[in-house]
Amino acid sequence: MDVIWVSPIYASPNDDNGYDISDYQAIMAEFGTMEDFDRMLEGIHARGMKLVMDLVANHTSDEHRWFVESRKSVDNPYRDFYIWKDGVDGKAPNNWGGCFSGSAWEYDATTGQYYMHLFSKRQPDLNWANPKVRDEIFKMMTWWCDKGIDGFRMDVIGMIGKESFEDGKVAPGALYGDGSPFYQHTETTHRYLREMREKVLDKYDLITIGEAGGGTGDAIRYSSLDGRELNMTFGFEHTDGINEHTELGKWSDKGAPLDEVREIMNRWELDLQGKAWNTVYLSNHDQPRQVSRFGNDAPLWREKSAKMLGTLLHMMRGTPFVYQGEELGMTNIYFKSIEEYKDVEVFNAWRQWIDSGLVDPTDMLRWYAKIARDNARTPMQWNTEKHAGFTTGTPWIRVNPNYLEVNAETEVNDPDSVFNYYKKLIELRHTHDVIVYGDFEPLLTDDPSVYAYRRTLDGETLTILLNWTDRTAPCALADDSLGETLISNYDAHKPGSLYPYEARVLLKRG
Ligand code: GLC
Repeated sequence: MDVIWVSPIYASPNDDNGYDISDYQAIMAEFGTMEDFDRMLEGIHARGMKLVMDLVANHTSDEHRWFVESRKSVDNPYRDFYIWKDGVDGKAPNNWGGCFSGSAWEYDATTGQYYMHLFSKRQPDLNWANPKVRDEIFKMMTWWCDKGIDGFRMDVIGMIGKESFEDGKVAPGALYGDGSPFYQHTETTHRYLREMREKVLDKYDLITIGEAGGGTGDAIRYSSLDGRELNMTFGFEHTDGINEHTELGKWSDKGAPLDEVREIMNRWELDLQGKAWNTVYLSNHDQPRQVSRFGNDAPLWREKSAKMLGTLLHMMRGTPFVYQGEELGMTNIYFKSIEEYKDVEVFNAWRQWIDSGLVDPTDMLRWYAKIARDNARTPMQWNTEKHAGFTTGTPWIRVNPNYLEVNAETEVNDPDSVFNYYKKLIELRHTHDVIVYGDFEPLLTDDPSVYAYRRTLDGETLTILLNWTDRTAPCALADDSLGETLISNYDAHKPGSLYPYEARVLLKRG
């Protein structure tokens, strides 16, 4: 079954690219109307596919009518829809920092109180402790389910259950306290999710994916096979987690060393096996382009490494997520100046670290070029026409100049393209149960160049071999005795070795 997940397309002032919703039951004017949406849903179903909508319910936009009301007065009926607190000694109610730099609190002069926002100040957090908030969210979800959508990807769902508001620990060099122990993966969140299941999810046949983060233990609780909460969750250990190693949070240019990525991805597979269903992704709208991060985006290796990473993704146990443009091998844009960026996360971090003189702008720009979210948000590269065929107007963010080589039209017509390789990978998942349901077993876990693993089901064995480097690597498993080659990004193979970025999947029956 193939599913399309659309990032938020609801009415929004776009402070955070639609993750700040001003009306949950309207479509963003730039994207069209509700009639257009209905037509899209019908078209998706007519093609035998499903549609998953983004559910952004930890917070709304400050332009949502609930917040417009809420900030008017302390006795407004919507006041308790959000989290309002008095300041302490003329400062914020506690020391928590937000996920987009700065404090998690904003002072509002109208009533002289602070409201909580774990993301931008234009994304006030809803107060899930208020049963009226939960009812409104459940009603809205029901409305979309009745329209016929097939599921939800639940934005930062692990943060909805705030349990207390005490100061968090301040790491050395950090400017704010870490409040996450009091609001991430709490018992209260699990309780809200079970209530959501009972009141909404159980009434429909839905796909539910939690954007939750945390460790494998958290993933197992959210998405255990007993189905009391969600079907699956996204972890961040192999993406943001690899970077988060200083007081600067995710900002670094560390890259993605094979030994770390492999240890994390294998551990998720093994820990969840038999207990919870996994998700597998290497990029999305919050991450840089995967070829630039995990592969090699130099023209010589872009295509080979994009196919190698696609093989890793599709041969794992769990649901693979392909982010638009990934199937073409789209790369980071590498902006050179702060003026080119559009992302609120980038601007807030700049304010916190550069405007205060704590970090050198050249360093920050280098880190942004590596991992800023805008790298993956440049316009879809459709063809070789102006602006890559994305618009005849002015695109909202610069088009990657490599669109003349990397674009859908060229790749659809080239049998050797990344696009056609992805099509084959998807087709293989449809036709080979071992890829979907087979047990996962890591191989060669200390190899400096090769990521290898095995999948087995009903007497079938798949051996997946991936050279993570731009050099030919010795690999004793690269041997025809392990089966026929099911798919590879090279036509010819060298026994006992893997060519640069070679991916080879061997299938043996019996
Ligand atoms: C999630 C989204 C991200 C957004 C944030 C706040 O992490 O994926 O794009 O900025 O939540 O809604």
